[in-house]
Amino acid sequence: MTKKSNKHLIRQPWYYEYIYPEAGGIAAQACQNIIDEFCPGKGLSMLDIGCGTGKIISHMTGSGHTCAGIDISKPMVDYALLLHPKFDVTQGDMRNFDLNKKFDVVLCVGSTFTSNLSNADVHASLANFHRHCKPGGLLIIALLNASRFLGAETFNEHVEMRVDEEDFHATTFSRHLLDRRNQSFRRVRTWRIDGEDDPVVDDAEFRLFFPLEIEDYLGQHKFSVLGMWDTPELKETDLSDRRLYIAARAL
Ligand SMILES: C[S@@+](CC[C@H](N)C(=O)[O-])C[C@H]1O[C@@H](n2cnc3c(N)ncnc32)[C@H](O)[C@@H]1O
Repeated sequence: MTKKSNKHLIRQPWYYEYIYPEAGGIAAQACQNIIDEFCPGKGLSMLDIGCGTGKIISHMTGSGHTCAGIDISKPMVDYALLLHPKFDVTQGDMRNFDLNKKFDVVLCVGSTFTSNLSNADVHASLANFHRHCKPGGLLIIALLNASRFLGAETFNEHVEMRVDEEDFHATTFSRHLLDRRNQSFRRVRTWRIDGEDDPVVDDAEFRLFFPLEIEDYLGQHKFSVLGMWDTPELKETDLSDRRLYIAARAL
């Protein structure tokens, strides 16, 4: 599936923390708002698929829920457990892990679901999410919005960013490429780390989804869409922003 993955970031999870310090916070806020609206209450069982460094688990545990995590990357799992030794985090692939357990809420946020580059991978993952969701349970997915990326406007093709942390200084140069036929967005990011001679290249590809397309996939896997938003505050908009947050009920 993951033809090109976020390899460098995922092998060295602390880079992920440097470059996305707010990622988990924004996603957690969106998840919390959706849960408050569609599944209020404390003490829910939750599963965070593609949990990364454990930011969402940390938030949900702090809100009184019991949250387990799955991630395909062993370094990510090891790092999450180093930060939070008591977390229930295990290694697994979203398409086929089997915890033999069903949860009140299943989460798949950040860019995890967009690693499903092929239609077959999307089907395998959603079938597996349904197997892990209680009947009537809630599924929350975050996606990259094809409506935003695949419009006629010129895409921002080169991005430069500076990372200055206490013990880590680097400049990153990213090249963005769109593959419209396959609805994918590729980001080739070169890291020039201060004090290191050789640059490091991160080559990652993400699937883009249109709103009706993902609704159709979800319906085929017995999920009924409750709502879609492009802001973590769940505002009513025309869904033209980059990220889509989707809430669906398991039938
Ligand atoms: C961008 S990070 C998001 C982490 C976290 N959900 C957050 O919002 O902060 C994406 C995570 O998905 C994981 N991932 C990618 N493909 C996966 C797969 N097939 N199964 C499980 N996890 C996967 C990666 O290892 C990575 O930790």
